Amino acid sequence: CGEHEGVCAQSRTEAKKALTLVKELDAFPKVPDSYVEATASGGTVSVLAFSVMAVLAFLEFFVYRNTWVSYEYEVDKDFSSKLKINVDITVAMRCQYIGADVLDLAETMVSSDGLTYEPVNFEPSPQQRIWHMTLQHIQERLRVEHSLQDVFFKSAIKGDLPPLPERSSSLNACRIHGHLYVNKVAGNFHITVGKSIPHPRGHAHLAALVSHDAYNFSHRIDHLSFGEALPGIISPLDGTEKIAPDSNHMFQYFITIVPTKLNTYKVSADTHQYSVTERERVINHAAGSHGVSGIFMKYDISSLMVKVTEQHMPLWQFLVRLCGIIGGIFSTTGAELIHTNTHTSTHITYCN
Ligand SMILES: *[C@@H]1O[C@H](CO)[C@@H](O)[C@H](O)[C@H]1NC(C)=O
Repeated sequence: CGEHEGVCAQSRTEAKKALTLVKELDAFPKVPDSYVEATASGGTVSVLAFSVMAVLAFLEFFVYRNTWVSYEYEVDKDFSSKLKINVDITVAMRCQYIGADVLDLAETMVSSDGLTYEPVNFEPSPQQRIWHMTLQHIQERLRVEHSLQDVFFKSAIKGDLPPLPERSSSLNACRIHGHLYVNKVAGNFHITVGKSIPHPRGHAHLAALVSHDAYNFSHRIDHLSFGEALPGIISPLDGTEKIAPDSNHMFQYFITIVPTKLNTYKVSADTHQYSVTERERVINHAAGSHGVSGIFMKYDISSLMVKVTEQHMPLWQFLVRLCGIIGGIFSTTGAELIHTNTHTSTHITYCN
């Protein structure tokens, strides 16, 4: 302070005054300490209040940790990218007799080089049977319990699909598996008799060498999905098994693909969901039921895109709720505590 001793002392007293003012400033009236006395009942209430607080805070934490899935819809504006088809189908015919390919609406035949033909046994091994039954069971539950889909979305991870159970190799059936890239327009993926050959007006299947009696389009779909294949997500057709009672049989699947943007805490991916209706009939030209026997999957792409986002309570909201619990219990039981205490102390004063 130096030479302005007097001014300095004055400002000091002012500061002291302000400090006492702040000290005395109290929005909450207090019971003077002399009236407050710890009692057994008050202690019990405190212990109870703290336990309730702890339990509620603990439960609140679980609510905070929990996540939910929200859906948003918007017009799909992505028109240039390719659509990936992931296929794994086993047909009860020999590989050299059948061919799989895609024709899209632009009438361009998409090369099906990405597909592998593997001779296998149509009868599944016991392990494979179990796998199939599990898949079919899940599909049934999915149809009834829609919220199960949320669980699948949350459990989706990035990576390769889990390998299917081993199958015994034999020559009576053919497993067609792999990926195809097609234009993002409606199209038709089919498996019919004969390898396809390109043709100026579309394509043709060379079927002359196969006897009609050898046809058997019984099939099992182990996997059929569009876009990025995500382990953990089960497509509607996975686990489908169809037995053809007749050799000339046509199976049709009408698929509507819904582009889906998945954004969860584990994965963010552009994938596709689909809905499917199916039809099958016997091809009998004499009875007026024309067509080509085989497996036909007509797909179309929805113009609406679904955005699936996993969300959870923001931290600030969790803190606000926590404060609500703690403050609420304090104010209710605290008032009760003071009440009992003042009551007791008055009683004591009276006795004296
Ligand atoms: C086709 O193969 C399946 C499985 O091997 C068999 O159950 C079915 O009877 C066969 N159908 C015809 C028409 O041969």
